[in-house]
Parts: sequence; structure tokens; C-alpha cells
Amino acid sequence: MIGPYRIEGYAIVSADGMIADGDGAMPDSIRNDADQKFLQTELDHAAVVIHGGRSHEGGPRAARRKRLIVTRRVASVAPDPSHPNALLWNPAGATLEEALAKLDVGSGTAAIIGGTEVFGMFLPLYDAFHLTRAAFAKIPGGQPLFPAVGTYRTPADALAVHGLKPGAGHDINAAAGVTLTTWTREPPTTTRNS
Ligand SMILES: NC(=O)c1ccc[n+]([C@@H]2O[C@H](COP(=O)([O-])OP(=O)(O)OC[C@H]3O[C@@H](n4cnc5c(N)ncnc54)[C@H](OP(=O)(O)O)[C@@H]3O)[C@@H](O)[C@H]2O)c1
Repeated sequence: MIGPYRIEGYAIVSADGMIADGDGAMPDSIRNDADQKFLQTELDHAAVVIHGGRSHEGGPRAARRKRLIVTRRVASVAPDPSHPNALLWNPAGATLEEALAKLDVGSGTAAIIGGTEVFGMFLPLYDAFHLTRAAFAKIPGGQPLFPAVGTYRTPADALAVHGLKPGAGHDINAAAGVTLTTWTREPPTTTRNS
């Protein structure tokens, strides 16, 4: 949590942990209808969607959602002329709480939907990360889920190092080898003085 905001991440990755190809485009091999349906339904319940310029979720309900678009093009927080429900946000110039207050989001879930740097920025903060894996897809030379993911570190390693634990995996499209696993942060245990 950051204040009254729960932080949840959403991504679909290839078997080798990539979210896009080397040119920054998301290939069809990791596009999946069951995953899209899950994502769109979850985003309908989020208080705000947060992403970089190329990671907009699309779909007919997207314009209704409040969003922060992470960018270095503004100093702190500024209106987004092309999206009335969105603000442009530079984390170097304003905290998340300041940006959300300007967007009039008082509490609830902040859904983080990418890309790589934005996913990485929230790694220490996720309360949950919904990781879909397309086991039959490989994207050599692709763009990783988190900045540190590559030859020596998987998305699972990165989440575990940051204190998240995996739940049971669910086959959301078994024929396509697509599995969804939600990773969650254990709440800190409280010790009582006797
Ligand atoms: N498979 C998946 O689940 C998934 C999820 C998300 C995205 N994708 C795909 O991945 C590709 C795009 O990924 P991308 O990494 O290039 O994402 P992106 O959404 O374009 O995010 C990168 C942008 O975020 C801004 N940014 C990043 N770090 C920042 C920081 N510290 N401070 C301020 N602004 C910052 C910059 O915007 P400015 O240039 O405006 O300053 C940067 O260009 C697309 O093809 C997308 O479809 C896939």
C-alpha cells in the first residue's frame, strides 16, 4: 500500500520473460483473449490505471478509466490534452499521492500496466502482481518485464526478491499454454510484547 492505495501489477510475458519484441512492439504470440478479458475486467474495478506512453490497454471502456501516464515530458503533473480522464505524471516532480490527489482519486487500487521501466519503478511496492505466462512463446532479444530481467533473472526471481510469493497458477487457456499466477506480498507479522 501507499497510503490508501493498493498497488497491483498486470502483465503477460513470454516463456523467456519478455513483454514486447526488440522494437518495442507486443507480438501476437503473447496476445491472448482470456488474458485480455481478465485484464479489462480488473481495470474496470481499479481506481486508477498507471502506464507509460505505449502501454495503453485499449478497448471500448478505456476512456472511462482514470489514468496517470508516466512521462519525462512534463515537470510534475499536467493535463493530457488527448485523454480527458488522464494526467501526465513525472515521478521526479510529484509523488504518487500528489498526482492521484490532482486526479481526484482518494483511495482504491492503482493498476500498473507497464512497460518495463514503469513495472520496475513499482517493484518494491506491489501488494499483488498478476503474471500471465504464455509458455509456448519466446521473444529472443525482446524487452523484459522488469529492467533487471534477462538471461540471469526471471520475472519470478524479481518478484520473489522483492518479497512477493506466488499463489496457485491457473490455466486460463490451456491449449495455448497460458497460465495466470497472482503473486502477493505477505503482510508484515506483528509481534506483541508480553
Ligand atoms: N506484455 C505485456 O503485458 C505488456 C505490458 C505493457 C507494455 N507492453 C508492451 O511493451 C511495449 C512498450 O513498452 P515500453 O517499456 O516502451 O513502455 P512505455 O509504456 O512506452 O513506457 C516507457 C515510457 O515511460 C516513461 N517513463 C519510463 N520511466 C520513466 C521515469 N522514471 N520517469 C518518467 N517517465 C518515465 C517514458 O515516457 P516519455 O518518453 O514520454 O518520457 C518512456 O518513454 C509496447 O509494445 C507495449 O505494448 C506489453
